[in-house]
Amino acid sequence: MNFEKNILITGGAGFIGSHVVRRFVKHYANYRVVNLDKLTYAGNLENLRDIEDSENYRFIKGDICDAGFIQKLFEEYQFDGVIHLAAESHVDRSISNPMAFVETNVIGTVTLLNAAKSIWKEMSGKRFYHVSTDEVYGSLGDEGLFTESTSYDPKSPYSASKAASDHFVRAYQNTYGMPIVLSNCSNNYGSYHFPEKLIPLTINNIKNNEAIPVYGKGENIRDWLFVEDHARAIDVIFHEGKEGETYNIGGFNEWKNIDLVHLLCDIMDSKLGREAGTSRKLISYIKDRAGHDMRYAIDASKLKDELGWEPSLQFEEGLEKTVDWYLANQSWLEDVTSGDYQNYYKEHYQS
Ligand code: NAD
Ligand code: TYD
Repeated sequence: MNFEKNILITGGAGFIGSHVVRRFVKHYANYRVVNLDKLTYAGNLENLRDIEDSENYRFIKGDICDAGFIQKLFEEYQFDGVIHLAAESHVDRSISNPMAFVETNVIGTVTLLNAAKSIWKEMSGKRFYHVSTDEVYGSLGDEGLFTESTSYDPKSPYSASKAASDHFVRAYQNTYGMPIVLSNCSNNYGSYHFPEKLIPLTINNIKNNEAIPVYGKGENIRDWLFVEDHARAIDVIFHEGKEGETYNIGGFNEWKNIDLVHLLCDIMDSKLGREAGTSRKLISYIKDRAGHDMRYAIDASKLKDELGWEPSLQFEEGLEKTVDWYLANQSWLEDVTSGDYQNYYKEHYQS
């Protein structure tokens, strides 16, 4: 079959990547969608079972840091576009093992840029889209929002590695004329979210009647966005975003961690038929994360004004949908929390 375009999506077996792959495979039958993923602890092909037999989809297992392999892949497929999501993504793991973040997030990104540069003799019609995080902007006080012109001030090894990769992507545009676009998004939630992150971890622990670990006083604030809204924003930016531009993506939806955990407890009590207040008793305040960023909040008005994107779901509705998904997919949850996860959990929370 002849395809109009070959699109490479990296990290497509992860949380956000799987939603992006699914969206592109379903919406763009004229694109061949190649999902390149190393299948680390965070990657899982179960996340894409429903589309794996699609004619326009191909999965390739591989490491974005392996320059020889990446070069051959680009030569073979002659990609027209790259949507780069592969990354080490968990702040807590970046605190215990920063080097893995330097390797994948920085070296892996530059390896992809080099391969694109080498095959794109003619840059017109090509696009390298780097998917990044609002954490590159650092931490906010009580007031203000991150805009596209906020100075970079990353504070964790994770955000420092993402900031470095953002800088490389922009440097390749400035130096080599690479046709790039970037987005920096706030915290996502939804189905297929690995339960090391706050929302799925809380759902899993409530289900299992285990303590809910809340760092510090639970007063840190995050701005939550439903993952399918992020995937839709990525689609819009990939197709309509202006070359060289950066777009902030966010939910206009700030929540203090403890208020969010309370809401999840109440939703879970009602879904599980437990007496109101039962799950809140599981909350356990534990030692704060080192260098814990206080508040993130995104001003996504550029994306709204220029490309017409807006979040589609109210948070309560999205959270309820998410809880329903986890309760309906307990075997997925059991599968990803067996094996290595147990060691991670013990080391991180019980040592
Ligand atoms: P994730 O950890 O769920 O998935 C990452 C995926 O990348 C996994 O499938 C993993 O196997 C793959 N991967 C890791 N190292 C690789 C390597 N060396 N080569 C090839 N594949 C590799 O992450 P996520 O939450 O889906 O985040 C995806 C992207 O979005 C990341 O770049 C992240 O920085 C960014 N982001 C995430 C959030 C969020 O809330 N999760 C918010 C904003 C931006
Ligand atoms: P997380 O989901 O790890 O995302 P990020 O650190 O990238 O924002 O954490 C979200 C918030 O929840 C953050 O303020 C840290 C806090 N948190 C806890 O209180 N307990 C936990 O067990 C985890 C994983 C996070």
